[in-house]
Parts: sequence; structure tokens; C-alpha cells
Amino acid sequence: MAKVFSITNQKGGVGKTTTAINMAASLARMDQKILLVDLDPQGNASVGSGVDRDGQKATVYEVLMHSSPIADAIVRTESAFDVIASNRELSGALIELVSEEHREFRMREALQSIRDEYDFILIDCPPSLDLLTVNALVASDAVVIPMQCEYFALEGLTELVNTVRKIRLAFNPDLSIEGLLRTMFDRRNSLSNEVSTQLKKHFGDKVYQTIIPRNIRLAEAPSYGTPVLNYDKRSKGAMAYLALAGEIMGREAIQ
Ligand SMILES: Nc1ncnc2c1ncn2[C@@H]1O[C@H](COP(=O)(O)OP(=O)(O)OP(=O)(O)O)[C@@H](O)[C@H]1O
Ligand SMILES: [Mg+2]
Repeated sequence: MAKVFSITNQKGGVGKTTTAINMAASLARMDQKILLVDLDPQGNASVGSGVDRDGQKATVYEVLMHSSPIADAIVRTESAFDVIASNRELSGALIELVSEEHREFRMREALQSIRDEYDFILIDCPPSLDLLTVNALVASDAVVIPMQCEYFALEGLTELVNTVRKIRLAFNPDLSIEGLLRTMFDRRNSLSNEVSTQLKKHFGDKVYQTIIPRNIRLAEAPSYGTPVLNYDKRSKGAMAYLALAGEIMGREAIQ
């Protein structure tokens, strides 16, 4: 049965989507069956995976509203992983679901029927702690937290860790923190190194050993609708995400 990971951080622009796409591609390269769920109305994970977010029969919106079977929303990409796309329409779900019973469980229920078909399901979350993110967390076994090692990063983390705790108490007792991923890292920056040290002090070996460097290839690849592995497989960014996939597989093997 698939492990379900939410890639989440309520702070915007920290590398969630870049991580979701490239983790999906790197794990797929290791023969893992992967489903990437785009749960952000921006639809960046869809576009960056080469999926036409506005041309699908069904998207994550229909899946959450239970108006299409989840199988109808699954798109196969050229990078050997599957995607459930998202677009602007998803913002409407926030409002439409507010009055529904079990509104926090929509994603969990939807994934139930396909969990056996994958090794990992990765959910790319929006930069907020709204009902969409709650749905992702309720559906997940664990969270992967990408973060930039800069001044306010640790403050934001406290809020996120509290949210995980609340979700655990209210809806999903099994939810854990899988790992914290340092993204867009610049080793020459002393503040980054300092925040990184703090992070390890607080979270110990929850912090992935793999560090994602700032790498222009990672920023360029989405405009070609492809993960960095297909765009420049020798780039530092591609190597780093392959190393991350290796580390994740290693942790799985130990568990
Ligand atoms: N390691 C990296 N090196 C260089 N650029 C990067 C790296 N990671 C991400 N970027 C760029 O930084 C920007 C933000 O990244 P991304 O979209 O992955 O963040 P996000 O957390 O998903 O943002 P949002 O909160 O808006 O969903 C993008 O332009 C992306 O291409
Ligand atoms: Mg994003």
C-alpha cells in the first residue's frame, strides 16, 4: 500500500512544488510507482510535470467534490509518474466544502481506492493552512517540509508543527513528520549555515542529510514542463533530488 506524503509549508515559495515534481521523478527513476497530486489552485505541479491543467476530463477539484471517480482524474506523464491535475477551479472547493460533513476527509476517502496501485503518493500543498492542506494532512502518513534556511523560517515551522499536532489529535493519529528538507541552499551564506545548525538541534535526524542547492536548472525545467532529470540530468539540482529519493528509500528500508 502506498505511503502518502504531504509536501507542505504554509510559507510561499520555499520549494514545495519543485520538491514534489522532482521527488516524483527521482522516485519513479528508482522503479517506484508514483502518484503526484496537485492540491494547489495555482496548478504549478501540473504544469511543471507537463500536464495541461485546464484540458483534463477531471481534476483534483472533481475528486474532492466526489463528482468524478478518482481514476478519471489520473494522468500518465512522460516521466513515468502519474499526476492528478489542479487549476483555479479548486479555490471554489474551499467555499463549497465548508458546509459539508466530513469535509476534512475528502482526500483520504478519494485515495482509498487507489492506494494499492502505488508505492508513494505525493501531495503538493498550497502555501496556506486552509481546508485544502487539512485534507492533505488527514490523508497522509507523514509530512515532508521543504524550507529555506533564512531568518523567519524557524518561526513558521513552529506553527506548522502545531498544526500537525492538532491534525493528529482531531483527525489522523498516525500523522508523523517524515523529514525537513533544506532547499535553495547557499553554503557561502553564514545565516543559512546558522539556521541549518538550529534546525538540526531542534529536529535531529528528521532533517534530511541531502541538501538541495540553489540551482538555476531547477528553476528552468518547469517552463519546459518537465522534471530536471529530463532537462539536465547532470545538474547539481538533478543529483540532489536523486540523492533525496535514495535517502527516502533508505529510511523506508529501515522501517
Ligand atoms: N533549488 C532551487 N534552486 C533555484 N530555484 C529554485 C529552487 N527551488 C525552487 N526554485 C524556484 O523558486 C521558486 C519557488 O519554488 P516553488 O514553486 O517550488 O515553491 P513553492 O513552495 O511550491 O511555492 P508556492 O508556495 O507558491 O506554492 C520557483 O520559481 C522555483 O523555480
Ligand atoms: Mg507550490
